[in-house]
Amino acid sequence: PISPLAHMFLHLKNILTPEEIHTARSLLGDDAAWIDGRSSAGGQALAQKRNEQLAQGSPASQQLRSLVLAALQRDPLFFSAALPHKIFNPLFNRYSGATNTYGDHVDGAVLHSKTPDQWVRSDISCTLFLAAPDEYDGGELLIQDADSERRIKLPAGDLVLYPSSTVHQVAPVTRGARIASFFWVQSMVRSTEQRQLLFNMDMNLLKLRSTVGETSSAVVGLTGTYHNLLRMWADV
Ligand code: NI
Repeated sequence: PISPLAHMFLHLKNILTPEEIHTARSLLGDDAAWIDGRSSAGGQALAQKRNEQLAQGSPASQQLRSLVLAALQRDPLFFSAALPHKIFNPLFNRYSGATNTYGDHVDGAVLHSKTPDQWVRSDISCTLFLAAPDEYDGGELLIQDADSERRIKLPAGDLVLYPSSTVHQVAPVTRGARIASFFWVQSMVRSTEQRQLLFNMDMNLLKLRSTVGETSSAVVGLTGTYHNLLRMWADV
């Protein structure tokens, strides 16, 4: 039996400010360095993938990566949920016209990131939506759960985190363009279940602090327990 805790889908709102969304979108217009998404896909992905990706060497790509990474770094929820050890350099894709879908696939377990040059184990897959839902039809991220399918289509600037172990797809876009950033996280805590427990504890500690205060002995004690669990489970 699979524990429900082993499934972690987290929606983080407003990762990007409206100004940042505007900047990102202006760098991801029709004149951006869009290339065939299959150039970075192997095997199974190659057969299923029909989209466009921003060329990683383009100047816009550098600026966009920095924008996304800075946004992640200032977000305490992202840190608490992902406990990132390594982050794959954020990539950018577009689904529209004849290159409008990515069929069922699993993400590779170990992926090579160019900037910096490193191998990243994919514990968590992330999609940061950059187009508003009313700009396009279709384009949902469909993630197979134990016995159902989750359909995810978020406001521009919002992020979804999901386990990289899942089978997922991007449904065909039938109008407009779906533009997003995507990347993977190698977590300090490899186990989804352990990571979920830590996140749950951290969120409840946050509530407790706001009601009984930072210096309450129970809060101090439980904060110690959180860190001792993290110390037991983390690899850095
Ligand atoms: Ni994928």
